[in-house]
Amino acid sequence: MASAAFSAKSDAIVTIERHILEQQRFHPEATGVLTSLLYDLALAGKMVTSQMARAGLAQILGKTGDINVQGEQVMKLDELADETIYLVNDHTGRLAVMASEEHKEIIPIPERFSPGKYVLLFDPLDGSSNIDYNAGVGTIFAIYQRVSPENTPGTMQDCLQPGHKMVAAGYIVYGAATMFVYTTGQGVHGFTLDPSIGEFLLSHDNIRIPAQPTYYSVNQGYFTRWSPGVQKFTQHLQNMTSETKTISMRYVGSLVVDFHRTLLAGGIFYYPADVSKPEGKLRLTYEANPLAFIAENAGGYASNGHERILDIIPNSLHQRTALYIGNRELVKEAEDYIQKFG
Ligand code: AHG
Ligand code: MN
Ligand code: MN
Repeated sequence: MASAAFSAKSDAIVTIERHILEQQRFHPEATGVLTSLLYDLALAGKMVTSQMARAGLAQILGKTGDINVQGEQVMKLDELADETIYLVNDHTGRLAVMASEEHKEIIPIPERFSPGKYVLLFDPLDGSSNIDYNAGVGTIFAIYQRVSPENTPGTMQDCLQPGHKMVAAGYIVYGAATMFVYTTGQGVHGFTLDPSIGEFLLSHDNIRIPAQPTYYSVNQGYFTRWSPGVQKFTQHLQNMTSETKTISMRYVGSLVVDFHRTLLAGGIFYYPADVSKPEGKLRLTYEANPLAFIAENAGGYASNGHERILDIIPNSLHQRTALYIGNRELVKEAEDYIQKFG
């Protein structure tokens, strides 16, 4: 039964296209462009899913031999996802400019196409280190309205807006099933791809992060590199018992997968700054910000350990940040431990 792939809360069959269209109702000023932009990203998600399904055959696993602006090995799937998202979006007239983890500079819209009013920042493939082990990976995106004048090429300033200016954010998780989760500020909604009909169907309507935390998620391999506050906070979590059971630990090493589980099961994901990464590892503009926007729209919170992620004014496209994200109380507790113990 194809619909076994998802457990919709109601028996209504709602496609992502239908849902996005209905969301437009909340934005009277909407001209449908944002709606179409979200469709395009859902299309890109379907395309990457099918490319991944063929990965083993098409030999696109493994490394390209290139090193990206982050100084990291570029995986072939990184490039494929990056190219897919670019090609789906460069000619639509909806975007003024794009920026991607895989490109050092902003990505201009080709002159032959008229620039639109939105800005798209994305991590085309998050969790690259997991690709060859068939663990979950994903795509993360943030959408802003341009701040530079209409009908001119988009600028770096368009891409360096604080997260609270975001108009939409989402991610796609390529796991056992492909899921598309997005928010336009009116709740967080999850769709599961039914590959037999090529449709994303509503499976998680209005996701709210559970009040009861289930997991904490951090790479404890770096424990000795953390500040005393982070070490003590982690020990606090290890001693913590929520009403029914102790809080357990899960860490996949793909931010988008670790975040998705945190959002659905409740808890906290954190990637602290440490002695070898004083600024943290995760990137502010296309990893921390979009997920922070989603977390807050699901009743959660996200901080860099000192301040709200969405209030940080980006200085550069690939700037890194520490990230604490999930249940508001746990993130605030992390801030308290860091404030008290450093
Ligand atoms: P990306 O694959 O886009 O470079 O992101 C990888 C990130 C993130 O997905 C994950 O949370 C983190 O790297 C894992 O880092 P560690 O291996 O240091 O834990
Ligand atoms: Mn990433
Ligand atoms: Mn990536």
